[in-house]
Amino acid sequence: MSAHMSPANLSLRLDEAQRLNPAFATLIGPTPKPDLSLADWLASLDSGDLDRLKFSRVELEAHLLALIQDAQGFRNPVTRIKSLRILGGRDKTGAAENLDLDLRPGAIVSVVGPTGSGKSRLLGDIECLAQGDTPSGRRILIDGEIPDPARRWAASGKLVAQLSQNMNFVVDLTVGDFVEMHAECRAVDNPEQAAAEVIACANQLAGEKFSAATSLTQLSGGQSRALMIADVALLSTSPIVLIDEIENAGINRRQALDLLVASDKIVLMSTHDPILALHAHKRIVIAAGAVLEVIETSDTERAHLATLEHYDRLMSELRENLRHGARLETLPLPFGSLE
Ligand SMILES: Nc1ncnc2c1ncn2[C@@H]1O[C@H](COP(=O)(O)OP(=O)(O)O)[C@@H](O)[C@H]1O
Ligand SMILES: [Mg+2]
Repeated sequence: MSAHMSPANLSLRLDEAQRLNPAFATLIGPTPKPDLSLADWLASLDSGDLDRLKFSRVELEAHLLALIQDAQGFRNPVTRIKSLRILGGRDKTGAAENLDLDLRPGAIVSVVGPTGSGKSRLLGDIECLAQGDTPSGRRILIDGEIPDPARRWAASGKLVAQLSQNMNFVVDLTVGDFVEMHAECRAVDNPEQAAAEVIACANQLAGEKFSAATSLTQLSGGQSRALMIADVALLSTSPIVLIDEIENAGINRRQALDLLVASDKIVLMSTHDPILALHAHKRIVIAAGAVLEVIETSDTERAHLATLEHYDRLMSELRENLRHGARLETLPLPFGSLE
C-alpha cells in the first residue's frame, strides 16, 4: 500500500535535515551534535523539551517526517492510493449484489436512490473499509488488497474523510483555533496561514460570512458544512472523501465540488440533487440496499447540465426574493412562458 512513511526516513542526520528544509533549523535550534540522526535526537528529548516544542513525541515524529516529505516536494502530503475497489455483498433480502467497481484518484461519483435505499450504508462501508462484516456484506480493497486492519481505525494517516449529514460542534473553540489545530496536526508549514486560507475558502462557499474569531457553536449548518469542506479539501491528507447529502447545507454546492475535484481525491457523494448527480463522472444507483447500476455520465447529459443550471439559478433567485419579502405577482420568464 501507499505512503506508509517508514521510520527509516529519520536516519537523516541533523545537519543534512537542516540543509534539506530550513524549517528543521528553527525546530532543532543550534545543536552541538550535527551528526546525530533525527531518530536519536527525537529519542534524546525529555518531556520538558517536548513541552517547549509544543508537541507530543508521536506528533513530533509525524512532523519530522512531514518536513522531510515537504522538502521533497510534497507540500501537505496526501496519503497516495492507486485504487479503491468495492466488491458486492447482498441486498436487503439477502440476494447477491452484482458489483465490482474500481475507482481511481480524481474520480467523482454520485450515489443516488430513494430515501432508505442504502446510500449512507454504502458510504459507511467505505468509511470503515468493510470486510464482509457490515449489514451489506460488501468488501473494500485498497490498491487491490485488503487494507491493513490498523488502517481501519487509525486516527492519523486516515484513508477516508467523511462529511456527515449532521455537523454539530460541541466544543467551544473559535473557528481560527479549531482550523489551526487541524493544520498543526497535519504538519502544515505555516498553520496560521493555512487556517486563514481555509476560512477564506469556507466563506466563499457559505452564503453568510464568518471570521476566525467566530465561535464554532455559533456557526449555522451551512457555515459549518462549508468550513468542513474547505478543511477537507485544503488540509486533509485522506485520499478518499465521502459526502452525505451535501445539498441540505445552504452552501455553493458546485464551488464546493470543484474544490474537491481539484484536490485529486476520490470523492463519493450521496445526493438527491440532479445537478450534483450529473456533475459526477459516474453515478451509482442504489435500490433496496444494493447497487442496481453504475451509469457513466453521457455527453448528452453533460450538455443538458447548462439548461438545468439555468433553471436552478432562476429558482434560487426566486427563493431569495421571497425570503426577503418579495411578492410574486408575475412569474419571471421563462417560467411564465411555459403557461
Ligand atoms: N444491503 C443491506 N443489507 C441490510 N441492510 C441494509 C443494506 N443497505 C442498507 N441497509 C439498511 O437500510 C437502512 C437504510 O439505509 P440508508 O443507507 O440509511 O439509506 P439512505 O441513506 O439511502 O436513506 C439502514 O438501516 C441500513 O443499515
Ligand atoms: Mg442517508
